[in-house]
Amino acid sequence: MKWLNDFFKKKADPKAEPRERKGHSLESFVDVQERVYGRALAGVAFSEQQIPRLPESDILEVRDFALNGWMLGETHGLPHWQRVERNGILLSTVDGRIREEINIKVVRFFAYLHDKCRIDNWKDIEHGVRAADMLLTIKDTILKGFTDEEFSLLERACRFHTTARRTGNPTIDVCFDADRLDLGRVGIVPNPKLMATEQGAYYAAKIH
Ligand SMILES: [Fe+2]
Ligand SMILES: [Fe+2]
Repeated sequence: MKWLNDFFKKKADPKAEPRERKGHSLESFVDVQERVYGRALAGVAFSEQQIPRLPESDILEVRDFALNGWMLGETHGLPHWQRVERNGILLSTVDGRIREEINIKVVRFFAYLHDKCRIDNWKDIEHGVRAADMLLTIKDTILKGFTDEEFSLLERACRFHTTARRTGNPTIDVCFDADRLDLGRVGIVPNPKLMATEQGAYYAAKIH
């Protein structure tokens, strides 16, 4: 998995370490995150593309589920999930509308579930597989509105987001890039050449 290792070599700034690693306060980590990632992508995203406002009510239940029992803080927690959701909507949008080939429900649910089964804030490469397996336990509750095809898309997106560079499926690949565009929070600048989608590569190239 050379491409994955390449990601972890790309340090935007030696000071931009996760706070767990250096014991930074929340405030200083947020400042680093803003400087390395937040303003850069937010500026590009909202000046060039108007993203649709989708109903909050659609993701309330899955967000509450993801938060229930979450003990790992913000690096892979709620603020990350919210940015992954926003990135996913951005990557799925053209001319202010969701692209037809994208299942936006899967993209939004991925944002709140893909890191749910992490056991630490380090590489924990198996957390994608654990998240995919966990989906079966909520198939008849949180995911009861999912068709078999939607469940399969979400399952594959979670399972492979830690190990696959791209799949060729537009929805799954948007999930991958929505997550990768948030790597700035741990001091990694996403490499446009290693993104799964054209749109992801475009926005990765805008992050400085
Ligand atoms: Fe993950
Ligand atoms: Fe993630």
